[in-house]
Amino acid sequence: MATKLLLLPPLLLLILPTLILLNGPWKAPFRPSDLLPLLPRPVSWTILSSLHSAVDLLPTFIGAATSSPNSSLNWKGACFYNNTAWMVFHNKSSSPFGGGTLHIKASKAHSWTCIDLYIFATPYRVTWDYYFLAREHTLDFKEWETEAELEYVKQNGVSIFLMKSGMIGTLQALWDVFPLFSNSRWGENSNLAFLKKHMGATFEQRPQPWVSNINVDDIHSGDFLAISKIRGHWGGFETIEKWATGSFAGHTAVCLKDSEGKLWVGESGHDNDKGETVIVVLPWEEWWAFELAQDDADPHIALLPLHPDIRAKLNVTAAWEYVRSMSGKPYGYHNMIFSWIDTIHGNYPPPLDAHVAASIMTVWSKLQPNYTDLWNEALNKRLGTKGLDLPEIIVEAERRGSSFDELLTVPEQDDWLYADGRSTSCVAYIVEMYKQAGLFHPITDSIQATEFTIKDAYILKFFEDNSSRLPEWCNEHDDVKLPFCQITGKYRMELPDYNTIEPYPHMNERCPSLPPKYIRPDGC
Ligand SMILES: *[C@@H]1O[C@H](CO)[C@@H](O)[C@H](O)[C@H]1NC(C)=O
Ligand SMILES: *[C@@H]1O[C@H](CO)[C@@H](O)[C@H](O)[C@H]1NC(C)=O
Ligand SMILES: *[C@@H]1O[C@H](CO)[C@@H](O)[C@H](O)[C@H]1NC(C)=O
Ligand SMILES: *[C@@H]1O[C@H](CO)[C@@H](O)[C@H](O)[C@H]1NC(C)=O
Ligand SMILES: *[C@@H]1O[C@H](CO)[C@@H](O)[C@H](O)[C@H]1NC(C)=O
Ligand SMILES: *[C@@H]1O[C@H](CO)[C@@H](O)[C@H](O)[C@H]1NC(C)=O
Repeated sequence: MATKLLLLPPLLLLILPTLILLNGPWKAPFRPSDLLPLLPRPVSWTILSSLHSAVDLLPTFIGAATSSPNSSLNWKGACFYNNTAWMVFHNKSSSPFGGGTLHIKASKAHSWTCIDLYIFATPYRVTWDYYFLAREHTLDFKEWETEAELEYVKQNGVSIFLMKSGMIGTLQALWDVFPLFSNSRWGENSNLAFLKKHMGATFEQRPQPWVSNINVDDIHSGDFLAISKIRGHWGGFETIEKWATGSFAGHTAVCLKDSEGKLWVGESGHDNDKGETVIVVLPWEEWWAFELAQDDADPHIALLPLHPDIRAKLNVTAAWEYVRSMSGKPYGYHNMIFSWIDTIHGNYPPPLDAHVAASIMTVWSKLQPNYTDLWNEALNKRLGTKGLDLPEIIVEAERRGSSFDELLTVPEQDDWLYADGRSTSCVAYIVEMYKQAGLFHPITDSIQATEFTIKDAYILKFFEDNSSRLPEWCNEHDDVKLPFCQITGKYRMELPDYNTIEPYPHMNERCPSLPPKYIRPDGC
């Protein structure tokens, strides 16, 4: 039996089913009747069976396998009617945190040809396997990634999800995208190959030196930093995000000068010492030194200077007020998915769809107890309800004659307040700052910052359009003169449609985003 292992930071769970579905339908000689999953809990089955297609693909949470001798987990699968699972910790790898083995004993198959297909997950990794034989199976976790993972598994166990077995071919496709997340030259090349193939990116090498000799006097408040990471966990995550949204950058930050002329960087999505992803304001020197020396994602960074007329509009006091008010708040997990999904059919690269989004949410909600409300809270706001869980939300949406698909397309409102405060992704944070600082005047009230993807931000006609006004050190050693200043990176960055769209009311609230062309209708 094949066991594929993926090491992922928590956020990547978000895209797991994206990857799962990349490979299309499964073609193996099993009888269709063997492919129907049975849900382990009669109660949830009752709720879910009324939903038919809306939940067909939902992974079913079985429970968590722990090492406690009293409480080995027992359930009925789709194929094997008696399954038991438990964890045994070990230290075969002599690593700081040791490893563990998950034991699964499967018996009472209902047919000769059936299989059970499972996803196993901790907040730090996702693995899958399938079982065809009635016997004891093991799944080895050679070593835990961090102390936090060891502690998590000790306390909460490894979560087990039963999948519809027809998903097996698509799960196998995971193996192909695994290298996207590898922190190596091989992983980096896999990202480049993926983006070339699926987005038509070019990745031409630039002449050395790859780091600009920056004079901070030439950087001003409101200048935008477009960042593209191509290696390691964040590289893999950004690759999928770029592909799904059509953005040629995967992360953003913004420059601000204080009254003494000192330069700062505001960033939503900075990993702090505790492993949390938060909003920060850092001195430029500190931020830049980190990007150059410590960021192992091989960041490519471009400075997009504001147009002088736009800069003149920027109320720096108001920008600072906003940035200070957000400092230390968690990254905008609640709404990041909604900036991308605006339409029922025009946003998901096939065969991705709202079912997959629901699957992601199902897996996520079991793994991040502190973020259980991650999307539920956002979905409840869309319904005007409170505290409904995912199945209840789906039921409620259908009861009102709507659907889960439709619910996902309801635009986020910037003034929605979540339990942990306002929620902003890396780019919503900057667009909101622009909004507060007056850049969208006089249509400020009809702009929802949380509806902007990274591409939506860099195509705004806000930036310098006269190359003779770009700083001297900008693209100094490159004979190809970009319309913005790439300040680090081996490959030339490209931002198609950069600086082309004047803001208009309700912009980006109804935009499709389908690869490979990502055609954007006027006025969407
Ligand atoms: C296991 O169960 C026994 C009897 O029910 C109980 O006394 C004991 O505390 C339990 N041990 C653990 C580790 O839960
Ligand atoms: C299910 O399997 C477990 C472990 O193999 C066994 O102890 C138990 O008796 C089995 N239950 C049934 C109903 O067969
Ligand atoms: C595993 O073994 C190594 C080397 O013997 C040791 O340093 C480490 O602390 C052990 N880890 C655990 C979790 O026991
Ligand atoms: C700039 O913003 C501050 C704080 O919001 C406000 O008090 C001030 O009136 C604004 N200045 C202008 C010129 O709009
Ligand atoms: C969840 O939050 C609580 C309280 O803030 C904290 O003690 C705990 O470590 C957190 N758990 C995880 C898995 O982050
Ligand atoms: C570009 O900027 C230069 C220097 O400020 C100026 O002389 C020139 O007229 C500008 N060109 C355009 C097309 O605005």
